[in-house]
Amino acid sequence: MDNNINQIIRERRSHYPQEFTGALLDDNIINTLIENACWAPNHTLNFPWRFIVLKETSLSKWLQQVLDNYIKNTPAEKFSQKTADKIQAYQKQVSQVIVLICEHDSENANKHKEDLAAVACGVENMYLSLSQFPNAAGYWSTGMGTYGEGMHAYFELKSNQELMGFFMLGSVDKKRTESSRKDYKQFILG
Ligand SMILES: Cc1cc2nc3c(=O)[nH]c(=O)nc-3n(C[C@H](O)[C@H](O)[C@H](O)COP(=O)(O)O)c2cc1C
Repeated sequence: MDNNINQIIRERRSHYPQEFTGALLDDNIINTLIENACWAPNHTLNFPWRFIVLKETSLSKWLQQVLDNYIKNTPAEKFSQKTADKIQAYQKQVSQVIVLICEHDSENANKHKEDLAAVACGVENMYLSLSQFPNAAGYWSTGMGTYGEGMHAYFELKSNQELMGFFMLGSVDKKRTESSRKDYKQFILG
């Protein structure tokens, strides 16, 4: 495929902490991702995204909290030591995490949907921006306790702020590009 926008979109892949080498990503990479997120379309230019960058101590502390929450909130019959070990291992794999928050500036339910859509557009910008950095990779996680009790309080979110997950970032030796998608024609109605 030519090196163009089609290639960047179709070869963009999610990469997971198990694939990260543990090497740290430069802060400039994180700043580029966030700057490009801010160029996403957003209705009335209300910029509904808010980001928190976790790294070093703040990252380590948050990962410990995720693990503690998992241990505390998972019923015994559902608890998996493998999952707990996986979260523990993130301490040595993940470089930075961008906390994804949507801030609503009105009470209008339709506008809320638009705000969430705009933040998602921003996250896609971050995903695509990774293509310019050969070793920087990541994925959008809505795990890690996103919808569970505790995270709202942990980040001291206001009542008009919604947690949309975490952009988990790390360094990889070589990025995967392969995937598959269904034929787009089936998604065209009429
Ligand atoms: C809103 C959203 C939430 C996601 N949450 C998770 C998640 O919690 N865990 C996970 O493994 N992948 C998550 N993903 C990544 C998808 O699994 C991934 O995009 C999908 O498998 C397609 O792979 P690709 O991104 O490499 O094309 C999420 C993606 C989106 C858009």
